[in-house]
Amino acid sequence: MTTAEVQAAPVKASPFNEETVLWVKHWTDRLFSFAITRPASFRFRSGEFVMIGLPGEDGAKPVMRAYSIASPGFAEELEFLSIKVQDGPLTSRLQHIQPGDTVLMGKKPTGTLVLDAVKPGKRLFLIGTGTGLAPFLSVARDPDAYARFGQVIVGHCVREVAELAYRDLFTAEIFEDPLVGDEAKSQLVYYPTVTREPFERQGRFTDLINSGQLFRDLGLEGARFNREDDRIMLCGSMDFIKDMAALIESHGLVEGSNAEPGDYVLERAFVG
Ligand code: A2P
Repeated sequence: MTTAEVQAAPVKASPFNEETVLWVKHWTDRLFSFAITRPASFRFRSGEFVMIGLPGEDGAKPVMRAYSIASPGFAEELEFLSIKVQDGPLTSRLQHIQPGDTVLMGKKPTGTLVLDAVKPGKRLFLIGTGTGLAPFLSVARDPDAYARFGQVIVGHCVREVAELAYRDLFTAEIFEDPLVGDEAKSQLVYYPTVTREPFERQGRFTDLINSGQLFRDLGLEGARFNREDDRIMLCGSMDFIKDMAALIESHGLVEGSNAEPGDYVLERAFVG
């Protein structure tokens, strides 16, 4: 091949950035968090997701899955919360990453769990099950959430107490955060619930809403969401978002999107 031919050959840009793992934290044998470097050109809005993955084995194409970014939009590193599935195509391998390893990341973040997709209101409910907490770790660490809403309620429902990842963040660390600490002290409510072992609060969100307990616990009048004041973001399993969306709609709230902000928005948490 001549030099001219080499220069004329099309340069195939990789659709993925190669990022370095900064730290890994294992919560349980089913759940872990990790952080990777953030490319200088990478912009995202708090609550968005991006494709994360690893190169395929033996030259196969990369294995990529959608992951909510758990860090807020201005953070220097990108943090993720992941399930571990022993025979999962990605997480069977991803769960073994170590600091210094390379992880692939898509170039275009996107998603609907963003402040711009909900209308202004008084209260912002961020309700997730399992790894569905991830986008709300981002939104609840963003000063914009506290500027737009008087109260930010982070609801997390898990099967076992050990799966209440980031409990220390929401019960202590966030209050020391230089950007949102003061706002969090007066505006943030952390509302964890466990379904399969004893805990200070038990039961699914659907039941806590139907019984009125959620509203009583928050000192709210009336046992329903209120379309004037309440905005809701949901992230979790398919069943969870389906049942919650039906319940929320029965209270008169309307789903929103980036194109048309509404009263609530939802996204399925990554599984597998
Ligand atoms: P439960 O233990 O009663 O099934 P999973 O790990 O299956 O994604 O579940 C995470 C949490 O979400 C569990 O506490 C589970 O409660 C709860 N959950 C699962 N499905 C629903 C649903 N359809 N509505 C409300 N909560 C749900």
